[in-house]
Amino acid sequence: MSKRLDKLLSLIPDCNVLADVGCDHGYVGIQALADGKARRAVFVDVSRPSLDKAAANCPDELTDRASFVCQDGLGKLFCDVAVIAGMGGLEIISILTRAENPPHILILQPNRNACDVRKYLNARYEIVCDCKIFDGKFYDMILAEQNSRPVPLTEMELQFGKTNLSRPTEDFRLFLARERAKLSKILQRCNDAKVQARLDLTDRAIAAIGGKL
Ligand SMILES: C[S@@+](CC[C@H](N)C(=O)[O-])C[C@H]1O[C@@H](n2cnc3c(N)ncnc32)[C@H](O)[C@@H]1O
Repeated sequence: MSKRLDKLLSLIPDCNVLADVGCDHGYVGIQALADGKARRAVFVDVSRPSLDKAAANCPDELTDRASFVCQDGLGKLFCDVAVIAGMGGLEIISILTRAENPPHILILQPNRNACDVRKYLNARYEIVCDCKIFDGKFYDMILAEQNSRPVPLTEMELQFGKTNLSRPTEDFRLFLARERAKLSKILQRCNDAKVQARLDLTDRAIAAIGGKL
């Protein structure tokens, strides 16, 4: 498994029913079953060929604890934990908005629009972990628990992720360094107010983690 998939797996708590939504190959759900983290796993994909891949990859000894559902999002499904990874943040929000039984715990890895995902979670879930990892490119990994009265995130936490700021990793420092270099380079060529604002925000994040990269 890749560093990205390993990290997703490490965020999954012991659970009764895990939904691997947008499972494609199904590696995360399969490994969670094999490790005994999930008693049962429901593999969901809107694409039949993708779902068939997950079914083909699932070892025979795990199939009695697995089910495979071809549908758009969570629908009416009951699960205590859902992994929704490797798709756009707006698609993840759409899946969560339409879920009839919102899962207690979410593990999300939006490929883009992570800030929108955090804003969506802000009123409904407590973000327990929100970390950036580098695995060829940068990925945001979010672990959130349902909470009717979550502590609202600050603007900086919405932009960069709560635990990235409180417990910065080497990968997050690398992200900030690259982001800073990229934005500075753009500003040398054109004076764009939005890019300048993003650079200022990045500098505030660097200051918030102690100023050292
Ligand atoms: C790039 S793959 C990610 C696979 C795996 N989750 C991962 O992170 O490696 C995205 C998968 O999500 C599926 N997908 C996209 N939107 C979906 C939706 N609304 N409901 C179910 N599956 C969806 C696609 O068919 C595709 O198989």
